[in-house]
Amino acid sequence: MLKIKQTHDLNTNIYRDSLAIRLEVFVNEQGVPESLEVDADEAKATYLTGYDEQLHAQATLRLLPENDGWHVQRVAVRSAARGQGFGRDIMQAAIDAGRHANRDFLILGAQTHACGFYEKLGFTPTSRPAFEEAGIPHREMIYRYKA
Ligand code: COA
Repeated sequence: MLKIKQTHDLNTNIYRDSLAIRLEVFVNEQGVPESLEVDADEAKATYLTGYDEQLHAQATLRLLPENDGWHVQRVAVRSAARGQGFGRDIMQAAIDAGRHANRDFLILGAQTHACGFYEKLGFTPTSRPAFEEAGIPHREMIYRYKA
């Protein structure tokens, strides 16, 4: 089970740990240009970073306000740490935080290979057609707190 920490402050280890995972996963592993990965929204986001029992940062995501919901972005688990429930832990923390903050929904652009991961958490595809970002195919998915 991950211990999840949260920050808005770019001068914290929570943010630095988040960014280190993102650079490892999106830039080095998936080939996303760093200039796209670290964008103009960086200072507006809230970051969640998940630490394992040895206090190593293993998972992250960021949240950006969007109307009455949050946009979930940059969901990543270190490659060596996948398949142990850490992705689910960090996403469940985002879902719980959104409920606590009285958001209406969470929305995200899922890399199509990860749609099944988000479906298990209760996300469903929206009517938006599939799209590409940084050359990677995506599908928009939503989690609604209210029916
Ligand atoms: N497709 C379908 N199901 C998946 C899946 C995938 N790609 N990845 C995980 N799952 C399932 C697991 O089997 C597990 O199911 P279970 O509850 O029935 O056992 C459940 O989802 C939770 O899996 P978990 O172990 O928490 O996933 P993870 O820690 O490996 O994290 C990602 C999943 C997608 C976050 C991780 O693979 C990752 O960081 N990938 C690289 C970055 C990336 O593509 N991010 C997504 C951007 S949209």
